[in-house]
Amino acid sequence: MDKGGDTAHPLFAQRMDRLGVPATIAMAQRARTLRAQGEKVLSLALGEPDFATPAAVIEAAHRAALDGQTKYPPVDGTPALKAAIARKFARENALEYAPAEIMVSNGGKQVIFNAFMATVQPGDEVVIPRPYWVSYPLIVQIFGGTPVYADCHEADGFRLTAAALEAAITPRTKWLVLNFPNNPTGGTMGRADLEAIAEVLRRHPHVHVLSDEIYEHLIYDGQRHVSLAAVAPDLKGRILTLNGVSKAYAMTGWRVGYVGGPVPLIRAMTAIQGSATSGICSISQAAAAAALDGPPDIIAQMCAVYDRRRKLVVSTLRNIPGLTCAMPHGAFYAYPGIAACMGRTTAGGQLLKTDEDFAIALLNEQHVALVHGSAFGQGPYLRLSYATSDDILTEACARIARLVDGLTG
Ligand SMILES: Cc1ncc(COP(=O)(O)O)c(C=O)c1O
Repeated sequence: MDKGGDTAHPLFAQRMDRLGVPATIAMAQRARTLRAQGEKVLSLALGEPDFATPAAVIEAAHRAALDGQTKYPPVDGTPALKAAIARKFARENALEYAPAEIMVSNGGKQVIFNAFMATVQPGDEVVIPRPYWVSYPLIVQIFGGTPVYADCHEADGFRLTAAALEAAITPRTKWLVLNFPNNPTGGTMGRADLEAIAEVLRRHPHVHVLSDEIYEHLIYDGQRHVSLAAVAPDLKGRILTLNGVSKAYAMTGWRVGYVGGPVPLIRAMTAIQGSATSGICSISQAAAAAALDGPPDIIAQMCAVYDRRRKLVVSTLRNIPGLTCAMPHGAFYAYPGIAACMGRTTAGGQLLKTDEDFAIALLNEQHVALVHGSAFGQGPYLRLSYATSDDILTEACARIARLVDGLTG
């Protein structure tokens, strides 16, 4: 991982030494540089829906602005959005959260930042299933905590097993981070998986859980998302249920995430957010409330498109000799394995010692941007986002096939 700039100067705090630039951002930056040189780069690197925000949501934002909803909002969210979130949790997750148990943040990312800033200090451990979304360990490290990785395997559908969790917990563990459907693998966890995790958690009452369910609606093959706090209501007082509108409603730029959890934690996180940002854009909050209260068929339509693209990508990748690809059941990522390509040399002369070598060669020689699996803690894999058009996906897969076809050695 790259460092977050030149921070050797005494001006900078020591915590800057622990702040890296996520590989996802670094790869997007490399792609931008190539584009600026006039190359046609296809990007499957970023986890961002290619759909437009639904028109009714934009209209709600417009109305809110004209109605004068342009003043500082309450730090923890507007009453109207918190009420819409409470309805959403009850309707879709069978979870009852009172307004005092809910807060709104600038994206799900700020929920994580608030939670760890309020609780994590040097000596504390946070169990993170691996592969992981890069921001979890980064944020833990900013606050001096230690990520402890629990390995998940392709053969288990990249699910966290009870045994791997049990082995990772120590007396210093403060949090377990769960993310399902998962970024980067597309793996999901069903009721039985969550019950097994809950059994372990019951034996370790000092461990809290950040359950990141932001991809809950992007789930396929007839599977149904269930929330950890609904599967284990007795543990609800130790669980933060994180969600947001970025992925489900194609609203990444509006920066609205939210969380349900125990009042003392929500209060502490609100105190931090009050000092950091004073709250979330009032107009974005009106838009998010309209999204959550809007007709569910908008999500179903987007999900059907992702599902078609998922099948297209996985079947094409599986036809490339040397690549394997587990079928992802959720989110909008595929995580193909490239072990058979390691040690070989590309037509451009790049020896592929690692999956990062593969990703860089693919960008330089075929102008396709994606992220290597070891950036998410497990290689040799690639993570590609299929939240982009069928044409781009078809062409990108053809270019991956061309790179692999040209390998020698
Ligand atoms: C697993 C996961 N959680 C949370 C987020 C945060 O999204 P946002 O801050 O846009 O709500 C992301 C975004 O990529 C993600 O992949």
